[in-house]
Amino acid sequence: MNEPMKKALVIAATSSLGAAICAVLARRNYSLFLTGRDVTELEIIAADLRIRHNANVLIGKFDLAYVTFSAGNFLEDVEEKFGSFDAAFLLAGDMGTAAHDEKNIEQVVKVNYLQPLKLLELLAEKMAAGRGGSVAVISSIAGDRGRQSNYVYGSAKAGLAASASGLRNKFSRRGVHIMTVKPGFIDTPMTYGMQSPLIYSREKAAETIVKALRRKKDVVYVPFFWRYIMLIIILIPEKIFKRMKL
Ligand SMILES: NC(=O)c1ccc[n+]([C@@H]2O[C@H](COP(=O)([O-])OP(=O)(O)OC[C@H]3O[C@@H](n4cnc5c(N)ncnc54)[C@H](OP(=O)(O)O)[C@@H]3O)[C@@H](O)[C@H]2O)c1
Repeated sequence: MNEPMKKALVIAATSSLGAAICAVLARRNYSLFLTGRDVTELEIIAADLRIRHNANVLIGKFDLAYVTFSAGNFLEDVEEKFGSFDAAFLLAGDMGTAAHDEKNIEQVVKVNYLQPLKLLELLAEKMAAGRGGSVAVISSIAGDRGRQSNYVYGSAKAGLAASASGLRNKFSRRGVHIMTVKPGFIDTPMTYGMQSPLIYSREKAAETIVKALRRKKDVVYVPFFWRYIMLIIILIPEKIFKRMKL
């Protein structure tokens, strides 16, 4: 069913989950501004949305690595071209490599936590100064408890979830809703080669995320059962957990 025209900014729209979210939003009659580092890929996604959904789509090159408080704010550019928007989705993420070396640690923390934190602060402030709005911040179940196999990525996503919680607390009275999303295993290149019955379709995940944002949920696990799986994992006593191969 078509809804009144709304506007959404999708940051890292080139991500598999991001492209699926764009399709859900376009079906729901949103106008879209897609950002990413790869303009060719953005153009392909935008063309597909225009053909399949007759969507109104703009694109803009954006690399999170260059967000600073003092440098020209890319959100000003978005507003100039697109006007103010009601919703934003922040999808940039990098699992890094298995090597826990300095370069990998810096890169993973930068893309999953440090740069998103700066951008979220600017984004929430801009929304609060305008008409308000909603932001979906894509964290991960990996942030719920550090495991030897992915604690660099997991700790960065935990930092992101904690900052989303703080921003929610800070901005809720100013009309800005911040939603933390904790996906489990979603069928995207990040889980390529993983054999698990728990892998979930990205289209279904995108539907869940868009629906949850419209319902103003605060924290959403995708799919929902990960909330219970993670609760069990969190409750395992440290004495036992530290001996487990996870
Ligand atoms: N797939 C899963 O099972 C899963 C589970 C939990 C959480 N998540 C999270 O969900 C989000 C989307 O995941 P996905 O699987 O769809 O990921 P994906 O297809 O691997 O895409 C990752 C995205 O992050 C962008 N990115 C990386 N470094 C960036 C930078 N410096 N500046 C701007 N963008 C940058 C990539 O841009 P380029 O296209 O330019 O490289 C790409 O759009 C991520 O935050 C991920 O951590 C995924």
